[in-house]
This record gives sequence, C-alpha cells and structure tokens, in this order.
Amino acid sequence: MAVTNRKWVLSARPKGMVERDNFSWKEEPVPSIGDGEFLVRNLWLSCDPAQRAWMEIDTYIPVLPLGEVMLSGSAGKVVASNHPGFAEGDLVAGAFGWQDYAVSNGGGFFPVSTVPPGIDLPAALSLFGITGLTAYIGLLDVGQPKPGETVLVSGAAGAVGSLVCQIAKLKDCRVIGIAGGAAKCEWLRSELGVDDAIDYKGEDVLARIGELCPDGVDVFFDNVGGEILDAALDHIAIGARVVLCGAISGYSDFEQRPGIRNYHQLIVRRGAMRGFLIFDHMARVPQAIGDLASWAAAGKIKNKVDVVEGLENAPDALNRLFTGQNLGKQLVKVADAPVS
Ligand SMILES: NC(=O)c1ccc[n+]([C@@H]2O[C@H](COP(=O)([O-])OP(=O)(O)OC[C@H]3O[C@@H](n4cnc5c(N)ncnc54)[C@H](OP(=O)(O)O)[C@@H]3O)[C@@H](O)[C@H]2O)c1
Repeated sequence: MAVTNRKWVLSARPKGMVERDNFSWKEEPVPSIGDGEFLVRNLWLSCDPAQRAWMEIDTYIPVLPLGEVMLSGSAGKVVASNHPGFAEGDLVAGAFGWQDYAVSNGGGFFPVSTVPPGIDLPAALSLFGITGLTAYIGLLDVGQPKPGETVLVSGAAGAVGSLVCQIAKLKDCRVIGIAGGAAKCEWLRSELGVDDAIDYKGEDVLARIGELCPDGVDVFFDNVGGEILDAALDHIAIGARVVLCGAISGYSDFEQRPGIRNYHQLIVRRGAMRGFLIFDHMARVPQAIGDLASWAAAGKIKNKVDVVEGLENAPDALNRLFTGQNLGKQLVKVADAPVS
C-alpha cells in the first residue's frame, strides 16, 4: 500500500467557472482507522454538476468548509476494516472525495453501499448509481410519460439526460433532445435513437421546439434551467409534467440566475412543474436497478462513460461538465484495483 494520501482540498470559493485555483493539492500520510471504521482505496471519481453548488452555497447539505477534501461521489476497494458491515476486498461506492484513501464509518448523507458482483465500478457510478436512478425515477415516477407522448429532454447528451432519452424511447414515447453542438445532436439521433435533437448553441430553441413538437410537450425533463426551461414552458401541452431535475445553466453564478417568464403557461395548459431529489426515492431503487440491469443486458440501453485519467486532473474533469466537453457520464480514473 502506498504510504501517501494525495488529495485535493477546497481552498477558495469559485467565482464563476470551476478553476484549478479553487483547490490545493496536499500529500499526507494515509490515515489510520478506529473502531467501526474502514479504509477505502479510491479507484474512480464521479463528476456531478452539484459539486459546483456544494463548493459555494448550502443545498441539501451544508456548504463544504474551506480546507476540507473536495466532496465527490466515488467508488473503490476496502483495504482495511474494523467495521462489521464492510470487509477487506469489498468494492464500495460512497462519497469518499478527491483523495487516494478515505476513512469511513459507512454512514452520512451519502451512505456507503457495497457494489454487487458483476457490476464494474464505472457502471456503479453511472447506470447503477445516482445518475441512472435519477434518470429512471425522475422520468417514470415524476414525469409519468405515457406511450405516444412527446418527451423533451435538456442536457440530453449528458449522463442523466442520455439515459432519460433512452428510457423514454423504451416507453414508446416520441423523444426530442436538446444539447450543445451538432456533434452531440447527431450522436443523440444516430446512437441513442431519439426522434430529433435541437442544438441550443446553434439553433433558435424556442422556434425549434415549436417545429418539432407541434402538439406540445407532454413531459419536459429539465437538467438545465434558465432560457431553455423558459422556451420549453412556452410549448407545453395541456396536462404537461415539467420535471425539474437540475439547473446547470445557473450553477456558475448563483447571484444572477435568470427568472422564468413563461410560467403562466402552466396555468393556461393546466401543467405541473415539480422538483425532486433522488435521495427521497430510495424505496424505488431495487425496481430501478432491476429494470436498468435487464435493459442493459438486452442491449436496449447504452451507458456512455467519458473518462479522464488521474486524480491530479479532477478539477479539469469537473470543469468539463460546465464547458460541455463531456459525452455521457464524466468519471475520473484514480487507480487500478490494488492487489489487496
Ligand atoms: N435532482 C436530483 O436528484 C439530481 C441527481 C443527479 C443530477 N441532477 C442534475 O441533473 C443534471 C445533469 O447532471 P449530469 O450528472 O447528468 O451532468 P451532465 O449532463 O453529464 O453534464 C452537464 C451537461 O450540462 C450541459 N451544460 C453545461 N452548462 C450549460 C448551460 N449553461 N446551458 C445548457 N447546458 C449546459 C453540458 O452539455 P451541453 O454540451 O449540451 O451544453 C454538460 O455536458 C444537473 O443539473 C444535475 O445537477 C439532479
């Protein structure tokens, strides 16, 4: 076992985009474990837009204190344990942060789970992690799409959005994705099988939604917020469900977030707009995992992961979410599995 724990700590709150200067690199001895604790060798990190919010504001968790290791979802291997529920060699997922080694007691806001046999760690952090569960439960439970309905998805070429598009197609919906750039739109059409896609960086989103959804949008699954949410609201169908999953367009400037002008359409079209947090829906996880696993095994769903190598590159990997460089789920590979 290496004797050094490399880590990134939060050293300054971001102003605007995430920068490397928001973090400091530290190298310290690997921590020791006490009673009821175990030591995890981090192998993969999950990159999530919410990390940008955790760096600056209180959300469903308090703002991350300066000087703390940067919080992130991650997966790794237990290399020492004084905990009855976790044994040396177990593969686990949790919030172990941007570091090589983490001490855990298994609890906290993001409880540690054991990765089932047959699921690799990138899949545990994407299709079978928060990402896949958010797509499945957000679309099916909150959006409640019916066969033949039109589902519009923003952030459609990202981690959650790309799964939402595919699940909506499996439920026999007509699916329109919104993404940044012609290449992402072509990937959505040719690889994921959406009915059409809108390039919000090169096209008039308001006009294109109107052209592609002449009978209105029945379900809008929104990962982005801001102007795209406003444009979609102007085209909702009677009885539409607007699923507020995320609002990444406002995460880099919490003081200047744009307002919504077209909310009156919720009245006119008798629509419902609902925010949700995946952590409130844990009772649905077994069903979701079962369905996602059977769709993946049957080749009906593609789980695209986008890998940046090296813990030292974690700040740049996180930044890719905000510049739109990622396709599918952004991960950081920290290390290969240790021998013991
Ligand atoms: N409610 C929940 O429980 C829950 C759980 C997980 C995630 N989420 C939310 O779900 C959303 C998607 O998360 P993810 O992990 O799947 O991330 P992601 O979609 O893989 O990555 C973020 C994507 O957002 C797009 N983007 C960035 N800035 C934008 C802007 N200003 N305007 C429009 N699009 C922009 C980029 O794609 P383009 O190239 O297309 O711009 C980028 O690829 C996030 O808002 C996240 O906070 C919510």
